[in-house]
Amino acid sequence: MKELRIGIIGTGMISNRHMTIWSHIPGTKVVAGCDIDQAKVRAWGERYGIPEEDLYVDFREMLKRDDLNAIDVCVHNNLHTPVSVAVMKAGFPCYCEKPMAASYADAKIIYDAAKATGQKLAVQLSSIYNLQTRLAKKMIEEGKLGKLYHARSVGHRREGRPGFDMPNFSRDFISKEIGVHGPLCDLGIYHLSQMLYVMGMPELDTVFGVSSADYYQDPRLLPPGLTYDVEDLSVGIATFKNGVSLDIYEDWAMHMDEVGTSFIAGSLGGLKLLDVDTSGGDLALSKERRLAGASAQKPTLEFFGYEDGMKTSKVINCQENGRREVLADPRMALYNDNQVHWVAYLRGELDDSSRIDSPYIAMETALLSDAIFLSQAQHRSVTGEEVRAMSQSVALRRQETPWGVIEYDF
Ligand SMILES: NC(=O)c1ccc[n+]([C@@H]2O[C@H](COP(=O)([O-])OP(=O)(O)OC[C@H]3O[C@@H](n4cnc5c(N)ncnc54)[C@H](O)[C@@H]3O)[C@@H](O)[C@H]2O)c1
Repeated sequence: MKELRIGIIGTGMISNRHMTIWSHIPGTKVVAGCDIDQAKVRAWGERYGIPEEDLYVDFREMLKRDDLNAIDVCVHNNLHTPVSVAVMKAGFPCYCEKPMAASYADAKIIYDAAKATGQKLAVQLSSIYNLQTRLAKKMIEEGKLGKLYHARSVGHRREGRPGFDMPNFSRDFISKEIGVHGPLCDLGIYHLSQMLYVMGMPELDTVFGVSSADYYQDPRLLPPGLTYDVEDLSVGIATFKNGVSLDIYEDWAMHMDEVGTSFIAGSLGGLKLLDVDTSGGDLALSKERRLAGASAQKPTLEFFGYEDGMKTSKVINCQENGRREVLADPRMALYNDNQVHWVAYLRGELDDSSRIDSPYIAMETALLSDAIFLSQAQHRSVTGEEVRAMSQSVALRRQETPWGVIEYDF
């Protein structure tokens, strides 16, 4: 097996999770890294044993190398479009963090760039690579829920605004210029994409949405000169052309103990989706923790319906069953992790018909999230067609860095 030599762009927090996962994937090696912050990329290089000559502050220099096979993009939200497009135009396959982009228009720019360049693109969506999602999708396809009519996409934190009252996280999460949006474009992306995917990617009909940023902001938590510029709550109601409705609730902070979970309801049964994977599953854990059988999360399904003519409910621990599934059929491991899946696609072990099309799912998820924001701006519900036409690119075209300006061309 030929070694896959990978370069990483953006050596912040999430790059560490990617590095842990890369360390578990045989035949892959991260050989170069780039961050606009020299001290940061040097510390990262030391942590992972990557020598100084393979560290860059300007990713365009790294992309001139001819000994890299793939690029992993770990910059923040509003840089996904400019950097991913540059990566693919330079001739590299691209793995991009979520959200694909802050607007539908920007997500489509990435999607179209992959088609135009012929490069293999994937978007990190950990919630769709696990048994919870596969089983929910299969149960729906087999008709176990009957005719679907309503679903709910939910995420809640009592108080957890990354970069604000979660200080270890990047401040970019709460910046309009870089993070762009709050919880809906953060954990909401995992919940929305999972719902769309398990329901078979229904075509969007209408959306009404509102967002706010009214949860108390303790002024002592923001250093002078910084502001909290994004939402802390987004809610909406969407309808699809197949008649199904979806209510959407995503917050980062709410004075409330719990707001329920995501679910899907049909004429014959309902499915609750508990502890949806937002943290990368088993491979995101160190080798020691994996061997000890630890789980980052425990995705679980609860089914409510009829069996033998009687009302019944049952619980499926998807993490444990998922491990057994892989023991029985090792190929299923290809469907349990984003990075493993992308590598299998790059190596030709998966093709366009057998892989999960994360770029398409991520782009349609961006359509839904953008619809919530556009609906609020218009003070009315919007149709899917309108959002496709109205959505604007907001991605950075010019970036000031500690060493100069990067002009992006996309
Ligand atoms: N932190 C998490 O737990 C987490 C989880 C899942 C997904 N994500 C996603 O990952 C992305 C990054 O998040 P993060 O928390 O790692 O942010 P971060 O700010 O810690 O890391 C981003 C890094 O990119 C660097 N960067 C910016 N512009 C660059 C450029 N032009 N070239 C090279 N480097 C550049 C920054 O200096 C920074 O070090 C976000 O889109 C986020 O939604 C983060």
